[in-house]
Order: sequence, then structure tokens, then C-alpha cells
Amino acid sequence: MKYTIAIDGYSACGKSTLAKAMAKRLGYRFIDTGAMYRMITLYFLREKIDITDECAVAGALNGLRVDFVPGSNEALLNEENVETEIRGRAVSEMVSPVATISAVRRWIVPQQREMGKEGGIVMDGRDIGTVVFPDADLKIFVTASMEVRTERRLQEMKDKGIPATREQVAENLVTRDHIDSTREDSPLRQAEDAIVLDNSHLSLEEFIEAGMVLVRGIPG
Ligand code: CDP
Ligand code: CDP
Repeated sequence: MKYTIAIDGYSACGKSTLAKAMAKRLGYRFIDTGAMYRMITLYFLREKIDITDECAVAGALNGLRVDFVPGSNEALLNEENVETEIRGRAVSEMVSPVATISAVRRWIVPQQREMGKEGGIVMDGRDIGTVVFPDADLKIFVTASMEVRTERRLQEMKDKGIPATREQVAENLVTRDHIDSTREDSPLRQAEDAIVLDNSHLSLEEFIEAGMVLVRGIPG
């Protein structure tokens, strides 16, 4: 039996790390849906799309293809590897407004469902357990304190050589969480049947093991 596993939660709380590690252990496909919204945002920024102009948004969506490098899961926008660029400040500051646009979500969600239609997938994002796969076999809602999330994201950006101060990172996380949880279309919220995993005080190994314990507990 190949399960569908949905992982949601606030910004920089460890969703992708958990999803990637669980997928590796299970031999499943891992999909970071946040990277898809980031690729769309990068394309809109490059093409200088006015996101309040519905026609311009629809036209832009026609011209783009989002995918991942097989194996490494790096972000591919129209065949170009944009993994580093989508993590920078310009995209981080624009992605949540872009993700509020219903036309964008109507375009990307069917692609996400297609990727997971045969199961054997761990997908992370904001609306995976509520909208993309409401019948997922396991739904995990990841949390961590704002201090921990800020420190981890700052460190991650430093490691990748992406410039940002602690204040900028913290402000971006707070702003995105607010936009993501108050938008009308597919707001970030914990699905009723999701299990909360707070990893503020867990090492990476403990966190991943906690996720695997939940997989082993899937009934049937
Ligand atoms: O990695 P981080 O938690 O900072 O964010 P991300 O997962 O890369 O997602 C970037 C943004 O995409 C989020 O802040 C949301 O605005 C949007 N997003 C969404 O609306 N729905 C998803 N399923 C995934 C991401
Ligand atoms: O996907 P999301 O934005 O929710 O978070 P992430 O990119 O998976 O995690 C943010 C950072 O926190 C990564 O650098 C992880 O390695 C780190 N992390 C950690 O150090 N300890 C944990 N228990 C969980 C995540």
C-alpha cells in the first residue's frame, strides 16, 4: 500500500525537511508545493506581471511550466534550474500575495493532484491536507516557535549565501503567515484530522523519527 502523506504548517517550521526525509525513507516521491508558488512568483517578477490584472496573470500562466529535477528535487522553471533564486528575498516578499490569487491556485492544484494520483507521495505546503488531498492517509501539521523558525531560516540563507538580516527574515515569516492564514482561497489552517508535530525542541533525527512513528501508526 502506497500512502499519500500531507504535511502543512507555517513558514520555515521544518515541513520540507520532514517531507523530504520521510519520502527518502519510504521510497516515495517528495513534492515541495511552496517551491511551485515560488517559481510562479519568480516568473511574474521577471515578466513584470501586474498581479492585479487578471488577463496578464492568465497570459503569464500560459507561458510557464514548473517542474523538479528528478532525484535532487531542485526547482525547474521552464527547464531552468532556479533553486537558489526562488529562496531569495525578492521572491519571499512577493510569494504570499501571488498565492492569494485564485487563478494561480486553480492552475497549480490540479498539477499537484496529478503528481500524487497514484499515492506513494509526501507533499508539503499550506493546503495539502485541506484542499489538495483532503483524503490523505496521514496529515501532519508542523509547528515550531517563531524564534526557532527565524534562527533556522536565517542559518539556511547564510549557508546558501543568500543575504538577509534577522529582522528581515522574522518580518517576512510573520507577514507571510498572516497573509497565508487570512486569505479567502485555501487559507492555511490545520485540517481537523491532522496530527500536530511541534519540533521546536527536537533535533532533526528526533523530528524525522516522530514523523515515521505516525506513518507506522496509519491504520489498515
Ligand atoms: O519554506 P517556507 O515555509 O518559507 O515557504 P514555502 O513552503 O516555500 O511557501 C512559500 C509560500 O507559498 C507560502 O508562504 C504561501 O504563500 C505559498 N504556498 C501556498 O499558498 N500553498 C502551498 N500549498 C504552499 C505554499
Ligand atoms: O519547509 P519549511 O519552510 O517549513 O521548513 P524547512 O525549510 O524544512 O526547515 C527550515 C530549516 O530548519 C532547515 O534548515 C532545517 O534543516 C531546519 N530544521 C532543524 O534544524 N531542526 C528541525 N527539527 C527541523 C528543521
